[in-house]
Amino acid sequence: MRERTPVTFDYNGLQVTAASLPSAGGVGLAQMLHMLSAYDLSEKNEAQRIHLAAEAMRRAYRDRAEYLGDPDFVDVPVAALTDPAYARELGASIDPARATPSDALPEVALPGEGPSTTHFSILDADGNRVGATLSINYPFGSGVMPEGTGVLLNNEMDDFATAPGEPNAYGLVGGEANRVQAGKRPLSSMTPTFVEGDDRVAILGSPGGSRIITQVLLGILAFEEGATASEWVGRPRYHHQYLPDHIEHEPDALAAATREQLQAKGHELHDVGRTFGDMHAILWDRAAGRLETGTDPRGEGAGWTGD
Ligand code: DON
Repeated sequence: MRERTPVTFDYNGLQVTAASLPSAGGVGLAQMLHMLSAYDLSEKNEAQRIHLAAEAMRRAYRDRAEYLGDPDFVDVPVAALTDPAYARELGASIDPARATPSDALPEVALPGEGPSTTHFSILDADGNRVGATLSINYPFGSGVMPEGTGVLLNNEMDDFATAPGEPNAYGLVGGEANRVQAGKRPLSSMTPTFVEGDDRVAILGSPGGSRIITQVLLGILAFEEGATASEWVGRPRYHHQYLPDHIEHEPDALAAATREQLQAKGHELHDVGRTFGDMHAILWDRAAGRLETGTDPRGEGAGWTGD
């Protein structure tokens, strides 16, 4: 028998302790309340309150059907399912004006599952290193799973240029060099990287489609400055990829004065409206005999130095 731990969470400052599995109650309540915490229900009229509550219920019960069961028999990702950040994503598809048909609910990846690309940085006691980035391209790849395998097929064909100048999902354009040909591999932006100075070694990489390479660039520049691994992965990000011809940036990444100066130089700025990337990095200071891990605050996971 597995340990039974009640599901506990905060809802608008209220501490809730609710039933553990195999009751679906604790997980369901946590999900629904986290979704509803996005609204000031006291401001809504009754129909609107009911609408929002019903939409939260629909979503939580979809997850119940998909993930929940007796934890003595199945691994249920309780922590991920009750994560407020996951609930925000689940609730993002709620239309205040219209019911979402249950068969049209969008798929939402659980935190920790990584919808598409994943990066690991690893260093062992002998100094052997691994930088590994893995991709199935879009969230859920092609959305196709050969029956009975549990394996999602990728859709890496989008990493080819489908036609000259035709942007792919990440807005990247390409031409002849990256056109589809039998036996040819598409271009990738995956950039697992080692950087070695006299005393210091960095291992870094990230998901993020076309923005992977520039994330690693910014990470290396921060490494060069002597910043900590947490700083490399945490700093606000910006990116330019030739076309579209603008600097993309995370919200609040650029101070007002910096924005003005860039615009005065002729740059168009484009706030992408969300953060991007999930960089995982290791700094090994050989001279000091010190290890430091950098875990991107935008994503999931944690560094471990074996202590
Ligand atoms: O190899 C590439 O460049 C793409 N398949 C990477 C896609 C990716 O990073 C999506 N994840 N955020």
